Amino acid sequence: MTIIDAIKERRNIKKFKPDMISEKDLLVWLEAASYAPNHRMTEPWEILMIGPETRAKLNHKTDFGGAPVVLAVLSKSASTPLERDENVMAVSCFVQNFMLAAHEAGVGVFWSSIGASPQNRKVLGVADGDDVVGVLGIGYPEEVPEVKPRTPISTKISHLS
Ligand SMILES: Cc1cc2nc3c(=O)[nH]c(=O)nc-3n(C[C@H](O)[C@H](O)[C@H](O)COP(=O)(O)O)c2cc1C
Repeated sequence: MTIIDAIKERRNIKKFKPDMISEKDLLVWLEAASYAPNHRMTEPWEILMIGPETRAKLNHKTDFGGAPVVLAVLSKSASTPLERDENVMAVSCFVQNFMLAAHEAGVGVFWSSIGASPQNRKVLGVADGDDVVGVLGIGYPEEVPEVKPRTPISTKISHLS
């Protein structure tokens, strides 16, 4: 599988098989994800492994599609708005790296923004100033949605003099 294949084939998975994924593999993908670009090497990501009690309190409408593993990815606070934005950008790169590494191994990810609400921030115990970039359901896909076609990239390119 080439990187371009992985990027184009990865889908946001909404229904999982109950089969557990290997914890060792999970760590390998998280470690690979940490090679994401990050300005000033802030490495702003933090991962919360979500257990059954916390998961139930999040009360997600499909319980993350039955994913056997759920974790939250946080972006750490910063001293300026620019640094905070940059941290969130770096953590987004981290999540994409993670999803592509998992995809290569046949494992899918459901990226949910459910952790952003004030109520769920409390459930997750997120400190003021930290951002919840995503709550991820992770497991072997039961269903893989059809690709959502993208707008031709040429329509998104402008040329400056
Ligand atoms: C920051 C972010 C938040 C997202 N939050 C949700 C969400 O709450 N629920 C959801 O179903 N999908 C969520 N998604 C996934 C998108 O809906 C999905 O990527 C998009 O529909 C394109 O589908 P694809 O990833 O399969 O190509 C999120 C994606 C990103 C980048």
